Amino acid sequence: MNILSPSILTADFTNLSKDLDKLERAGVNFLHLDVMDGSYVPNISFGPKIISDLRKKYDFTFDTHLMINSPEKMIEEFAKAGSDYITIHPESTIHLHRQIQLIKSFGKKAGVSLNPSTPLSVLDYIIDDLDLILIMSVNPGFGGQSFIPAIYKKIQETRKLIGSRDIILEVDGGVKIDNVKDVLAAGANAVVVGSGIFNGKDIEANAKTFLELLND
Ligand code: DX5
Ligand code: ZN
Repeated sequence: MNILSPSILTADFTNLSKDLDKLERAGVNFLHLDVMDGSYVPNISFGPKIISDLRKKYDFTFDTHLMINSPEKMIEEFAKAGSDYITIHPESTIHLHRQIQLIKSFGKKAGVSLNPSTPLSVLDYIIDDLDLILIMSVNPGFGGQSFIPAIYKKIQETRKLIGSRDIILEVDGGVKIDNVKDVLAAGANAVVVGSGIFNGKDIEANAKTFLELLND
């Protein structure tokens, strides 16, 4: 089963639970939570309080994407808030290997996210510790940007690097109905979709369309 992980970044926060109920009805089981600190990326989104509130109400697998500097200061809070996966960026911390172990020490799955210009070689000595690799197909910070075509090759190379390891290969940014098949063909088995689901009129129908395209 390929995974759809809708990002709430583009959702209407005054209507969040209504929108998430629609995702539930569509059969979505992952939820992508984009945390931004205004320092690692030029935007601020939300923190652990929103995640722990959502945790009380929803059974989605929480796929928390930390775009924050020094994530080690906050990993415990995001773990306790109810994240299932916690993904960090190599440039955001001096000791990447240590922070992956920290995520796992709370019983959580660990992910590493690579910006469009970040080489795959940062994974060389940590890949066996990872549960998820998140390939950014836009520069992180905002929803609604266009997919960078050069990233198809990177997805293919990441798939090769993963080999037989049990690691989710997730692609984040600019994934839409018209390119999701190409993203899968390149080797992804999970996609993050924000504006492609939340900007359209019918959120439930949009999510269903993605789920069908991902698993037909
Ligand atoms: C970008 C975020 C993405 C993004 C996805 O910093 O990590 O999750 O919001 O949104 P779309 O699908 O609109 O590119
Ligand atoms: Zn994200």
